[in-house]
This record gives sequence, structure tokens and C-alpha cells, in this order.
Amino acid sequence: MDLAWVFGLWSLVFGPAAMRHCIYPGTFDPITYGHLDVLARAAKLFDKVTVAVAQSGGKAPLFTSEQRVEMIATNVAQWRHVTVTTFNGLLVEFCIAHQADAIIRGLRALSDFEFEFNMALMNRHLEPKVETLFVMPNEQFSYTSSTLVKQVATYGGDVTHFVPANVASALRAAFAPKRDA
Ligand code: COA
Repeated sequence: MDLAWVFGLWSLVFGPAAMRHCIYPGTFDPITYGHLDVLARAAKLFDKVTVAVAQSGGKAPLFTSEQRVEMIATNVAQWRHVTVTTFNGLLVEFCIAHQADAIIRGLRALSDFEFEFNMALMNRHLEPKVETLFVMPNEQFSYTSSTLVKQVATYGGDVTHFVPANVASALRAAFAPKRDA
């Protein structure tokens, strides 16, 4: 029997299969290959992925949230089920408002664990319906962070191993005037 026919019949009787939606939150100032590695794993596991860019994330970002969204959007264009947007306020409220089932986070090294553990438990306390899932990005990105990338770029170092081309050129543009001054 044709599989598509079986799925069609199944949907008719039991309703459409639930769509799994996850949120990948962060400040992404800027997005790195490490973040994109996490995103690629999320894109494989979920029917829908929303990258949620924290407007400040308690930090003083170099790039505006619009610039960060634009940089990410260019790099997720190959996944039709991945979208990018900004958020402000509590992450779990954003998840509920967007009917998301889960938050996905990357664990780069043991040093990430305590912060992630506390955040996951706090989010669960605030909203038990939303699960937090962890994936491990490729070990080649275990020491990558947005701050380190910005630090290298400040002094004109090569960051193309850590960030996509559009991000590298945005970093060059952001830091060139300061270096030339
Ligand atoms: N590859 C590369 N770098 C990574 C990475 C990966 N896979 N995973 C994390 N990082 C880096 C980030 O680049 C970032 O570096 P930086 O500190 O130099 O900028 C650092 O690790 C921390 O990033 P991340 O873990 O994504 O946290 P964040 O600070 O960017 O975002 C929020 C945290 C926005 C998700 C969190 O503060 C939040 O949910 N805020 C909303 C308010 C709220 O609900 N609070 C209650 C939650 S308990």
C-alpha cells in the first residue's frame, strides 16, 4: 500500500500529526558557526524552528537586533522551516505566544552546564509545558563565543573560521573606523 495514502488516511481519522516547534534563543551578537551548528541539529529534529534574538539579552550588543536578525536570516535561507525574529521579556512567554513545544540550547563544554542547568530549571518553574533540550555542537566550535570573535575582529584578526562571510564583513565594517581613528 502507498505510504502517502496511509498517512492521508491516518490524518483523516486521527487529525494531522502534531507539528513540533522549537525556539532557539540567544543574543547572537553576532551569530557564529557554533550557533549555526546547533541550528542545523534543531532543523533536523523539528518541523518548525524559530530563532529568537534577544533584543539585549542583558548585554550591550554591538549590532542592533535588526542587524542581527538580518545576518542570521541570510544564513538560514536554505531551511524553509526556520524563521528568525526578535523577542523581549520572558523567553517562556514568547514560547507560549508562539505555541512552541521546546527551547533548544547548545552545550559547548562542561563550563556551559551550570548556567544552562539553572536557566532550564528556572524556565521550567515559570512554564512547565515548555521543555528545554540540549544538543552538543561540533567540538571544533567548543571555544567559540561571540565575545571572543568580536575581540579578534577588534584588532583586525581573521574571524572567517568562526563566522559566515556576511558576519565577517559586518564585523570588519563595525571595527574598521575605530581602528583607523
Ligand atoms: N556556538 C558559539 N557560541 C555560543 C554557542 C555556540 N553553540 N552557544 C553559546 N554561545 C556563546 C554565545 O555566543 C554567547 O557569547 P557571548 O556571551 O560572548 O555573547 C554566550 O555563549 C552565551 O550565549 P547564550 O548561551 O546563547 O546566551 P545569551 O546570553 O546569548 O542568551 C538568553 C541568553 C537571551 C537566551 C536568556 O538570557 C534569556 O532567555 N533571556 C530572556 C529573559 C528570560 O526569560 N530570563 C529567564 C531565563 S532563566
